[in-house]
Amino acid sequence: MGSVKAIELLKGVDLFSSLDNEQLETLARLVIMQNYDKDETIILEDDESVQALFLIAEGEVKVYMTGTDKRETILTLLGKGDFFGEMSLIDGEPRSASVKAVSPSEVLIIRREHFIQQVRATPDLAMSLLVEMSKRLRKANRQIGSLAMLTVYGRIAGTILNLVEERGVRIHGENGKMVTVIRNRPTQKQLAEMSGTTRETVSRVLSQLQKKGTLSLANKDLIILEEGDLKFTDDGKDERSTLDDED
Ligand code: CMP
Repeated sequence: MGSVKAIELLKGVDLFSSLDNEQLETLARLVIMQNYDKDETIILEDDESVQALFLIAEGEVKVYMTGTDKRETILTLLGKGDFFGEMSLIDGEPRSASVKAVSPSEVLIIRREHFIQQVRATPDLAMSLLVEMSKRLRKANRQIGSLAMLTVYGRIAGTILNLVEERGVRIHGENGKMVTVIRNRPTQKQLAEMSGTTRETVSRVLSQLQKKGTLSLANKDLIILEEGDLKFTDDGKDERSTLDDED
């Protein structure tokens, strides 16, 4: 691929912010660019054959696991500037999850040996990788915590709080009050796959939360008006009791 374009793309990736121009140019000569259609699989769980790191130049992908009942659980959604496929490169194990494009996507692929070489040569790059992996582990911990909850409300609220943490933007709302916006919000089906429930239940809980004034939906945005409503008190007699529970 044209290395000028590759350098521009690599510059936009947080992971490589510690590389200087010369290192970026070297790396840019080594990457290949691949396009994926919507719903096309990029990585298959348990696969051992591909040894490469992937960087999203354009589009959105979902990282997911398929249960024995064939139901998919979304671990995360990743977008422009995010990377995936680092775990197998680091520990040499098969792929830990599947990754599929949820919109037409353009992805940069870096072969294992080139990436590992760069990590060894650049301690700051190794540090950036550790920071991102810690963030993902924190998020996974929150997810485990909320998936263990008995109520579906708790799990959906936990998913929304995770999105707030990950990509929420604070802005002034209509009455001047600060609110949090999730741009380009996940679909109801994706929220269901992140929360271990059905699309119908997500739809019902979202409309209850809208009626209650906890959040609102506007175009492609999810606006959190009362974040406190999504958090729980210790005694279990919290906001959940005012909403239907269903599993
Ligand atoms: P790898 O195991 O090589 O292939 C699947 C990729 O999905 C994995 O590397 C990570 O990049 C990504 N992945 C797996 N689990 C998670 C998670 N919990 N959060 C974010 N990304 C993940």
